[in-house]
Amino acid sequence: MIRRTRAAQVAAPSLPSAGEALRLDGVVKKYGTGASATVALRGVDLVLAPGSFTAIMGPSGSGKSTLLHAAAGLDSPTSGSVRLGGTEISGLRAAQRTRFRRDHVGFVFQAYNLLPALTVEQNVALPLMLGERAVEPAWLDFLISSVGLVEQRRRLPSALSGGQQQRVAIARALVTRPHVVFADEPTGALDSRAGQQVLDLLAHTTRELDQTVVMVTHDPVVAAHADRVIFLADGAFAGHLDGASAAQITQYLTGLGDW
Ligand SMILES: Nc1ncnc2c1ncn2[C@@H]1O[C@H](COP(=O)(O)OP(=O)(O)OP(=O)(O)O)[C@@H](O)[C@H]1O
Ligand SMILES: [Mg+2]
Repeated sequence: MIRRTRAAQVAAPSLPSAGEALRLDGVVKKYGTGASATVALRGVDLVLAPGSFTAIMGPSGSGKSTLLHAAAGLDSPTSGSVRLGGTEISGLRAAQRTRFRRDHVGFVFQAYNLLPALTVEQNVALPLMLGERAVEPAWLDFLISSVGLVEQRRRLPSALSGGQQQRVAIARALVTRPHVVFADEPTGALDSRAGQQVLDLLAHTTRELDQTVVMVTHDPVVAAHADRVIFLADGAFAGHLDGASAAQITQYLTGLGDW
Protein backbone atom coordinates (compact mmCIF):
# COMPACT_ATOMS: atom_id res chain seq x y z
CA MET A 1 0.00 0.00 0.00
CA ILE A 2 2.79 2.44 0.81
CA ARG A 3 4.75 3.66 -2.18
CA ARG A 4 8.19 4.99 -1.58
CA THR A 5 9.38 5.57 -5.12
CA ARG A 6 8.27 9.17 -5.45
CA ALA A 7 9.50 10.34 -2.07
CA ALA A 8 12.72 11.77 -3.49
CA GLN A 9 10.82 14.03 -5.90
CA VAL A 10 9.09 16.01 -3.16
CA ALA A 11 10.78 17.97 -0.42
CA ALA A 12 10.40 16.61 3.09
CA PRO A 13 8.39 18.78 5.49
CA SER A 14 10.36 21.66 6.93
CA LEU A 15 11.46 20.93 10.47
CA PRO A 16 11.56 23.28 13.41
CA SER A 17 15.11 24.52 13.76
CA ALA A 18 15.23 24.10 17.54
CA GLY A 19 15.19 20.30 17.19
CA GLU A 20 11.98 20.11 19.22
CA ALA A 21 8.68 19.52 17.47
CA LEU A 22 6.71 19.90 20.69
CA ARG A 23 7.63 21.10 24.16
CA LEU A 24 5.35 21.24 27.21
CA ASP A 25 6.59 22.81 30.44
CA GLY A 26 4.56 22.55 33.63
CA VAL A 27 1.22 22.25 31.87
CA VAL A 28 -1.69 22.39 34.32
CA LYS A 29 -5.32 22.14 33.27
CA LYS A 30 -8.18 22.71 35.68
CA TYR A 31 -11.82 22.44 34.73
CA GLY A 32 -14.23 24.46 36.86
CA THR A 33 -13.48 26.37 40.05
CA GLY A 34 -13.70 25.95 43.82
CA ALA A 35 -14.72 22.70 45.42
CA SER A 36 -16.06 21.25 42.17
CA ALA A 37 -12.84 21.90 40.20
CA THR A 38 -11.18 18.96 38.42
CA VAL A 39 -7.42 19.07 37.93
CA ALA A 40 -7.03 17.13 34.68
CA LEU A 41 -3.29 17.82 34.21
CA ARG A 42 -0.95 18.40 37.16
CA GLY A 43 2.18 19.96 35.70
CA VAL A 44 3.13 17.91 32.66
CA ASP A 45 6.56 18.30 30.99
CA LEU A 46 7.16 16.74 27.59
CA VAL A 47 9.63 17.14 24.72
CA LEU A 48 9.14 15.40 21.37
CA ALA A 49 11.89 15.25 18.77
CA PRO A 50 11.04 15.80 15.11
CA GLY A 51 10.13 12.51 13.45
CA SER A 52 9.24 10.73 16.69
CA PHE A 53 6.15 8.53 17.00
CA THR A 54 4.71 8.59 20.53
CA ALA A 55 1.71 6.79 22.00
CA ILE A 56 -0.07 8.06 25.12
CA MET A 57 -1.87 5.53 27.29
CA GLY A 58 -3.70 5.72 30.59
CA PRO A 59 -6.98 4.87 32.27
CA SER A 60 -10.20 6.65 31.41
CA GLY A 61 -10.12 10.11 32.96
CA SER A 62 -6.31 10.19 33.34
CA GLY A 63 -6.04 13.30 31.12
CA LYS A 64 -5.01 11.89 27.72
CA SER A 65 -7.47 13.89 25.64
CA THR A 66 -6.88 16.99 27.77
CA LEU A 67 -3.14 16.63 27.14
CA LEU A 68 -3.65 16.18 23.41
CA HIS A 69 -5.97 19.18 23.22
CA ALA A 70 -3.59 21.42 25.18
CA ALA A 71 -0.57 20.29 23.13
CA ALA A 72 -2.41 20.82 19.85
CA GLY A 73 -3.71 24.28 20.74
CA LEU A 74 -7.34 23.16 20.72
CA ASP A 75 -7.57 24.38 24.30
CA SER A 76 -5.32 26.58 26.42
CA PRO A 77 -3.76 25.32 29.66
CA THR A 78 -4.60 26.91 33.00
CA SER A 79 -0.86 27.44 33.45
CA GLY A 80 2.37 26.30 31.85
CA SER A 81 3.85 26.59 28.40
CA VAL A 82 3.19 24.81 25.10
CA ARG A 83 5.65 25.31 22.23
CA LEU A 84 4.92 23.82 18.83
CA GLY A 85 7.75 23.95 16.31
CA GLY A 86 9.37 26.70 18.39
CA THR A 87 6.24 28.90 18.65
CA GLU A 88 4.76 29.54 22.09
CA ILE A 89 1.07 28.87 21.54
CA SER A 90 -0.27 28.95 25.10
CA GLY A 91 -0.16 32.77 25.09
CA LEU A 92 -1.91 33.21 21.73
CA ARG A 93 -5.39 34.65 21.58
CA ALA A 94 -8.09 32.23 20.38
CA ALA A 95 -8.19 33.56 16.79
CA GLN A 96 -4.40 33.43 16.44
CA ARG A 97 -4.35 29.96 17.93
CA THR A 98 -6.98 28.80 15.43
CA ARG A 99 -4.94 30.15 12.52
CA PHE A 100 -1.74 28.60 13.84
CA ARG A 101 -3.50 25.27 14.26
CA ARG A 102 -4.93 25.29 10.76
CA ASP A 103 -1.54 26.07 9.22
CA HIS A 104 0.83 24.02 11.42
CA VAL A 105 -1.01 21.21 13.23
CA GLY A 106 -2.49 17.99 11.84
CA PHE A 107 -5.38 16.04 13.39
CA VAL A 108 -6.69 12.52 12.97
CA PHE A 109 -9.80 11.58 14.94
CA GLN A 110 -11.53 8.27 15.51
CA ALA A 111 -14.49 9.52 13.44
CA TYR A 112 -12.58 10.54 10.26
CA ASN A 113 -14.43 13.91 10.03
CA LEU A 114 -14.26 14.15 6.23
CA LEU A 115 -16.54 16.55 4.37
CA PRO A 116 -19.10 14.32 2.60
CA ALA A 117 -19.64 16.63 -0.40
CA LEU A 118 -15.93 16.86 -1.25
CA THR A 119 -13.91 14.25 -3.16
CA VAL A 120 -10.90 12.49 -1.67
CA GLU A 121 -8.45 14.96 -3.22
CA GLN A 122 -10.57 17.97 -2.23
CA ASN A 123 -10.72 16.71 1.36
CA VAL A 124 -6.93 16.26 1.40
CA ALA A 125 -6.34 19.77 0.02
CA LEU A 126 -8.93 21.42 2.27
CA PRO A 127 -6.56 22.74 5.00
CA LEU A 128 -4.50 24.50 2.30
CA MET A 129 -7.63 25.98 0.69
CA LEU A 130 -8.90 27.22 4.07
CA GLY A 131 -5.52 28.83 4.73
CA GLU A 132 -5.53 30.35 1.22
CA ARG A 133 -2.28 28.54 0.51
CA ALA A 134 -1.19 27.18 -2.84
CA VAL A 135 -1.79 23.49 -3.49
CA GLU A 136 1.36 21.94 -4.97
CA PRO A 137 0.07 19.27 -7.38
CA ALA A 138 3.16 17.07 -6.90
CA TRP A 139 2.74 17.09 -3.10
CA LEU A 140 -0.97 16.30 -3.37
CA ASP A 141 -0.22 13.44 -5.80
CA PHE A 142 2.50 12.16 -3.50
CA LEU A 143 0.22 12.13 -0.45
CA ILE A 144 -2.69 10.48 -2.26
CA SER A 145 -0.36 7.85 -3.65
CA SER A 146 1.33 7.34 -0.23
CA VAL A 147 -2.03 6.53 1.35
CA GLY A 148 -2.86 4.17 -1.53
CA LEU A 149 -5.90 6.04 -2.89
CA VAL A 150 -4.90 7.00 -6.44
CA GLU A 151 -7.85 5.16 -7.95
CA GLN A 152 -10.28 6.67 -5.44
CA ARG A 153 -9.09 10.27 -5.62
CA ARG A 154 -12.22 11.60 -7.35
CA ARG A 155 -14.66 9.60 -5.22
CA LEU A 156 -16.74 10.93 -2.34
CA PRO A 157 -16.05 9.62 1.19
CA SER A 158 -19.35 7.69 1.16
CA ALA A 159 -17.87 5.42 -1.54
CA LEU A 160 -14.89 4.46 0.66
CA SER A 161 -14.37 1.89 3.41
CA GLY A 162 -13.65 3.06 6.95
CA GLY A 163 -9.94 2.32 6.58
CA GLN A 164 -9.79 4.23 3.30
CA GLN A 165 -11.58 7.20 4.89
CA GLN A 166 -9.08 7.23 7.74
CA ARG A 167 -6.23 7.19 5.22
CA VAL A 168 -7.79 10.27 3.55
CA ALA A 169 -7.85 11.90 7.00
CA ILE A 170 -4.15 11.09 7.45
CA ALA A 171 -3.24 12.59 4.05
CA ARG A 172 -5.28 15.67 5.00
CA ALA A 173 -3.45 15.90 8.34
CA LEU A 174 -0.10 15.83 6.51
CA VAL A 175 -0.89 18.26 3.70
CA THR A 176 0.24 21.40 5.52
CA ARG A 177 3.53 19.71 6.56
CA PRO A 178 2.53 20.30 10.19
CA HIS A 179 4.91 20.43 13.13
CA VAL A 180 2.98 17.58 14.76
CA VAL A 181 0.13 15.23 13.80
CA PHE A 182 -2.15 14.49 16.77
CA ALA A 183 -4.27 11.35 16.59
CA ASP A 184 -6.94 10.45 19.19
CA GLU A 185 -7.80 6.72 18.92
CA PRO A 186 -7.18 6.75 15.14
CA THR A 187 -7.93 3.05 14.76
CA GLY A 188 -10.79 2.93 17.27
CA ALA A 189 -13.47 2.49 14.59
CA LEU A 190 -11.54 0.13 12.31
CA ASP A 191 -11.22 -3.63 12.06
CA SER A 192 -7.77 -5.01 12.76
CA ARG A 193 -6.61 -5.22 9.13
CA ALA A 194 -7.66 -1.65 8.28
CA GLY A 195 -6.25 -0.51 11.62
CA GLN A 196 -2.95 -2.17 10.81
CA GLN A 197 -2.75 -0.30 7.47
CA VAL A 198 -3.45 3.02 9.20
CA LEU A 199 -0.75 2.33 11.80
CA ASP A 200 1.76 1.28 9.15
CA LEU A 201 1.00 4.53 7.38
CA LEU A 202 1.51 6.64 10.51
CA ALA A 203 4.79 4.85 11.27
CA HIS A 204 5.83 5.31 7.63
CA THR A 205 5.22 9.08 7.75
CA THR A 206 7.44 9.41 10.80
CA ARG A 207 10.27 7.53 9.10
CA GLU A 208 10.02 8.75 5.52
CA LEU A 209 8.75 12.32 6.01
CA ASP A 210 10.30 12.97 9.43
CA GLN A 211 6.77 13.74 10.58
CA THR A 212 6.21 13.92 14.35
CA VAL A 213 3.13 11.92 15.44
CA VAL A 214 1.43 11.70 18.85
CA MET A 215 -1.36 9.18 19.27
CA VAL A 216 -3.72 8.39 22.15
CA THR A 217 -4.80 4.77 22.35
CA HIS A 218 -6.20 2.22 24.79
CA ASP A 219 -4.84 -0.71 22.81
CA PRO A 220 -1.35 -2.13 23.58
CA VAL A 221 -1.18 -3.64 20.06
CA VAL A 222 -1.74 -0.18 18.59
CA ALA A 223 0.68 1.50 21.01
CA ALA A 224 3.41 -1.01 20.10
CA HIS A 225 3.75 0.70 16.69
CA ALA A 226 5.10 3.82 18.39
CA ASP A 227 8.77 4.41 19.24
CA ARG A 228 7.82 5.44 22.78
CA VAL A 229 4.77 4.83 24.96
CA ILE A 230 4.05 7.39 27.67
CA PHE A 231 1.74 6.41 30.53
CA LEU A 232 -0.51 8.94 32.24
CA ALA A 233 -2.26 8.40 35.55
CA ASP A 234 -4.39 10.98 37.34
CA GLY A 235 -3.10 13.88 35.25
CA ALA A 236 0.61 13.12 35.65
CA PHE A 237 3.21 10.95 33.93
CA ALA A 238 3.49 7.45 35.34
CA GLY A 239 6.42 6.26 33.20
CA HIS A 240 7.39 5.36 29.66
CA LEU A 241 8.61 2.45 27.53
CA ASP A 242 10.75 2.66 24.39
CA GLY A 243 10.43 0.21 21.52
CA ALA A 244 8.11 -2.02 23.54
CA SER A 245 6.08 -4.95 22.26
CA ALA A 246 2.35 -5.25 22.91
CA ALA A 247 3.10 -7.92 25.53
CA GLN A 248 5.58 -5.66 27.33
CA ILE A 249 3.10 -2.77 27.29
CA THR A 250 0.34 -5.00 28.68
CA GLN A 251 2.67 -6.22 31.40
CA TYR A 252 3.61 -2.65 32.31
CA LEU A 253 -0.07 -1.62 32.48
CA THR A 254 -0.81 -4.57 34.75
CA GLY A 255 2.03 -3.49 37.03
CA LEU A 256 0.53 -0.01 37.28
CA GLY A 257 -2.56 -1.47 38.89
CA ASP A 258 -6.19 -0.72 38.27
CA TRP A 259 -6.37 -0.01 34.50
N1 LIG B 1 -14.84 19.95 29.61
C1 LIG B 1 -14.63 19.40 30.81
N2 LIG B 1 -15.19 19.92 31.93
C2 LIG B 1 -14.98 19.39 33.14
N3 LIG B 1 -14.17 18.32 33.37
C3 LIG B 1 -13.58 17.76 32.30
C4 LIG B 1 -13.79 18.26 30.98
N4 LIG B 1 -13.06 17.49 30.12
C5 LIG B 1 -12.45 16.56 30.88
N5 LIG B 1 -12.75 16.72 32.18
C6 LIG B 1 -12.25 15.91 33.31
O1 LIG B 1 -10.82 15.92 33.26
C7 LIG B 1 -10.30 14.62 33.54
C8 LIG B 1 -9.47 14.13 32.35
O2 LIG B 1 -10.34 13.91 31.23
P1 LIG B 1 -9.82 13.42 29.80
O3 LIG B 1 -10.98 13.53 28.88
O4 LIG B 1 -8.58 14.16 29.45
O5 LIG B 1 -9.47 11.90 30.10
P2 LIG B 1 -9.01 10.72 29.08
O6 LIG B 1 -7.76 10.16 29.66
O7 LIG B 1 -8.98 11.25 27.70
O8 LIG B 1 -10.19 9.65 29.25
P3 LIG B 1 -10.83 8.63 28.19
O9 LIG B 1 -9.87 7.47 28.09
O10 LIG B 1 -12.11 8.23 28.84
O11 LIG B 1 -11.02 9.33 26.87
C9 LIG B 1 -11.51 13.74 33.87
O12 LIG B 1 -11.66 13.74 35.26
C10 LIG B 1 -12.67 14.45 33.20
O13 LIG B 1 -13.85 14.21 33.88
MG1 LIG C 1 -10.08 10.77 25.94
